[in-house]
Amino acid sequence: MPVLGMLRSTFAQDQPFAGLTIGCCLHVTAETAVLVRVLTAGGARVHIAASNPLSTQDDIAAALAAEDGITVQARSGVDRETYYDHIHRVLDARPDLVMDDGGDLVNTLHEERAELISGVRGGCEATSSGAARLRQMVAAGSLGFPMVAADASATRRMIDHKYGTGQSVLDGILRATNTLVAGKTVVVAGFGPCGSGIAERARGLGAQVIITEVDPVRALAAIMQGYRVLPMAAAAPLGELLITATGSQDVIGARELAMLPDGAILANAGHFDVEIDVRTLADLAEDVHPAIRPHADEYVLADGRRLILLAEGRVVNLVAAEGNPAAVMDTSFAVQALALAWLAESAGFAGDEAVGFAGAKPSAGRVLEVPGAIDAEVATLTLASLGTKIDTLTPEQQRYLESWRQGS
Ligand SMILES: NC(=O)c1ccc[n+]([C@@H]2O[C@H](COP(=O)([O-])OP(=O)(O)OC[C@H]3O[C@@H](n4cnc5c(N)ncnc54)[C@H](O)[C@@H]3O)[C@@H](O)[C@H]2O)c1
Repeated sequence: MPVLGMLRSTFAQDQPFAGLTIGCCLHVTAETAVLVRVLTAGGARVHIAASNPLSTQDDIAAALAAEDGITVQARSGVDRETYYDHIHRVLDARPDLVMDDGGDLVNTLHEERAELISGVRGGCEATSSGAARLRQMVAAGSLGFPMVAADASATRRMIDHKYGTGQSVLDGILRATNTLVAGKTVVVAGFGPCGSGIAERARGLGAQVIITEVDPVRALAAIMQGYRVLPMAAAAPLGELLITATGSQDVIGARELAMLPDGAILANAGHFDVEIDVRTLADLAEDVHPAIRPHADEYVLADGRRLILLAEGRVVNLVAAEGNPAAVMDTSFAVQALALAWLAESAGFAGDEAVGFAGAKPSAGRVLEVPGAIDAEVATLTLASLGTKIDTLTPEQQRYLESWRQGS
């Protein structure tokens, strides 16, 4: 992860988090460990809980816990009560900054630990689902500090959501099923960056891809890229492999489950395990054959149809594969680390000047875009790590582009 490596050196020198406590709720994986070390190199004490109990790599959690300045509250496979207990223990550290992935930390903080809100200077949310929850909090006037929506950054939507998730979701499905994708009809629900990346990779493997959408602009984009677009009610009977990537719930619900063909494989790439109605599937099943392969359960319905559910309806690329490749997380986590450093500096408690990227200043109780300068910084570091050089504008070109007087 060369970009984080470069940031680690800069942060070790600049100490943007000197004296600060950062509370994290992230997938506890090897890549996250590299991010946590960047934060501690920058002077932070880090308390981290898992953002999904099934994605915790216990060896990584143990290795991190042995390091100075890091407290880990995570173990693979814990129940819901322990999961939230871990989040509370991170909050017990009274964080100055938070880094969340899905919103459970920030939600718990506001709902159950409101006395801590005034001590939090701001934070960073990693996913679109988490950012959507934050926007609802803003609409309700409930968000107590600024949160940067890292998922919406240009570099992240391109590299992480589209190319990273696109590849690793197919990887998870292939590991869990070893199915042949070529010639299959694959239904992808949602044509955001994740869905479009998944669709592109499935098509690359030879699938006939159908997209379902609720947003007319995105549906049109799918058509223009050569996909067939159908409502789910029309797509479900055709789907041999169905993948949800919407951030919404019950995208494959009772109505769709009734229509799916025998042998259909169901996988979810969205953050929460609500996109496939697993409870209704279990209710409809006469028989369940758990783990016919690792992370694949077969549900036999009353009419004899067999449906294969992957990863219990949870994020398939994290549960059945290894999540995004390290190179992808390198850029994503660089955005998050720089966003936190921006908040720390702008809040004026790491130095006496509010520095901020491009003069931008975070404000309280808002969901903030990642400043374009952070994206530019991450892209510059990534290009440097790839050994790629690009052109720069000449002073004449710069003047031409900035002038409104020079026409044709
Ligand atoms: N698995 C991963 O590694 C990973 C990585 C990044 C994001 N995510 C998650 O994947 C989901 C999608 O991410 P994104 O960045 O593409 O989000 P997005 O919000 O940009 O796109 C989601 C799309 O789904 C559409 N949609 C919503 N409800 C729908 C429905 N009922 N039927 C069909 N389409 C519907 C929306 O119109 C939108 O175009 C989110 O939950 C996000 O948190 C997962």
